[in-house]
Amino acid sequence: MPENFMKNKILVTGGAGYLGSHTCIALHEAGYDIAVYDNLSNSSREAINRVSTLIGQKIEFIEGDIRDAELLRQVFASHEFFGVIHFAGLKAVGESVVKPLLYYNNNVGGTIILLEVMAEYDVKSLVFSSSATVYGDPDTLPIDESSKRFCTNPYGQSKLAIEYILEDLAKADNSWNLIALRYFNPIGAHSSGQIGEDPNGIPNNLMPYISQVAVGKLEKLSIFGNDYPTVDGTGVRDFIHVTDLAQGHVAALDYLEQQISSNKINISKKKSVGFLPINLGTGGGTSVLELVNAFTEVTGRDISYQFTDRRLGDIASCYADIDKAKFLLGWKAKLSIHDMCQDSWRWQILNPNGYD
Ligand code: NAD
Ligand code: UD1
Repeated sequence: MPENFMKNKILVTGGAGYLGSHTCIALHEAGYDIAVYDNLSNSSREAINRVSTLIGQKIEFIEGDIRDAELLRQVFASHEFFGVIHFAGLKAVGESVVKPLLYYNNNVGGTIILLEVMAEYDVKSLVFSSSATVYGDPDTLPIDESSKRFCTNPYGQSKLAIEYILEDLAKADNSWNLIALRYFNPIGAHSSGQIGEDPNGIPNNLMPYISQVAVGKLEKLSIFGNDYPTVDGTGVRDFIHVTDLAQGHVAALDYLEQQISSNKINISKKKSVGFLPINLGTGGGTSVLELVNAFTEVTGRDISYQFTDRRLGDIASCYADIDKAKFLLGWKAKLSIHDMCQDSWRWQILNPNGYD
């Protein structure tokens, strides 16, 4: 790519967070010009500073809430965006059960406001952070995009509600191009060890918990259940490296750009992308115990663990059918479980207290 070549400008909501910060790097490397919009409710300015250092260029950052329509209007009025990657949202399942209104207000209410402002400025391309959680407990594996959707907690319901809103919007107005990327279990960190997942308090998710046991911050991992009908009785998930996931967003944007430009040429056949859900996973499952063992193998650290009861709401196995991402986006995850462990560990030892 020529040095000065810049692709379209993209607004990245939630770009200071775990997935957003990694995606900003991938977007920059792919030639996209980006602006990050985040209220820092679950992230820090330091993440933005580090992304700027890694890409060798100061990132344009706007501190703001997606529910602040006036600020969003100012941002859209002063930029020419091709589209939006929409990561902004709250994501803690347990907290969502205790504070459902907060989750519906922030995630669903915030997305509606964002879509309304996008419509006002005729920016109609969006890549939305959905989740494999929308599949609930699947009937068959691997899970493809046509599987039934069913959620049991307010966090999952908020993702599902947003998917329904996007679907309805695409039906009502065929000029929208809306991709919902359904992430499986993103883990790992940037290979530099400079950015990674920085959970508040005691982690709920497996990989940050393992890393904190390994570094001595937590004493012992509780493995929730060893009586599932899986390879070793522990839960099976489709863990995907965050860097691969970030590349999936670049592939989704490239796809939207291609579709839109080819539709402009074939005006007679004008058809937008509409609503397009796509799984982002590796297509394979790894059990909790297998991940713990891989982590020990890669890092040389023993992870002390105990088996406890199953966690309420957990399912036995979950992994993606990835054909749609392969065929439509030309994207496939490349990094291994070993890479995920190595990079999570590098981030953890270089930043034992996260960004603080
Ligand atoms: P994260 O919490 O690290 O990042 C989300 C970012 O959004 C944070 O920086 C937060 O400050 C910001 N934010 C939240 N509400 C906002 C608001 N109202 N206005 C502006 N900014 C706001 O989470 P993440 O892991 O990077 O996840 C990003 C998205 O992907 C979320 O929508 C999440 O639900 C979804 N997702 C994540 C996972 C995962 O395992 N991490 C899996 C499936 C889906
Ligand atoms: C969880 C959320 C899901 C969300 C995803 C990413 C639940 C029920 N689901 O998925 O909605 O999209 O995170 O944020 O919370 N495990 C342990 N011990 C631990 C932690 C986890 O054994 O301390 C096990 C779990 O039982 C599971 C696996 O590890 O089998 C993965 O758990 P986790 O990392 O929390 O992800 P999910 O539950 O798959």
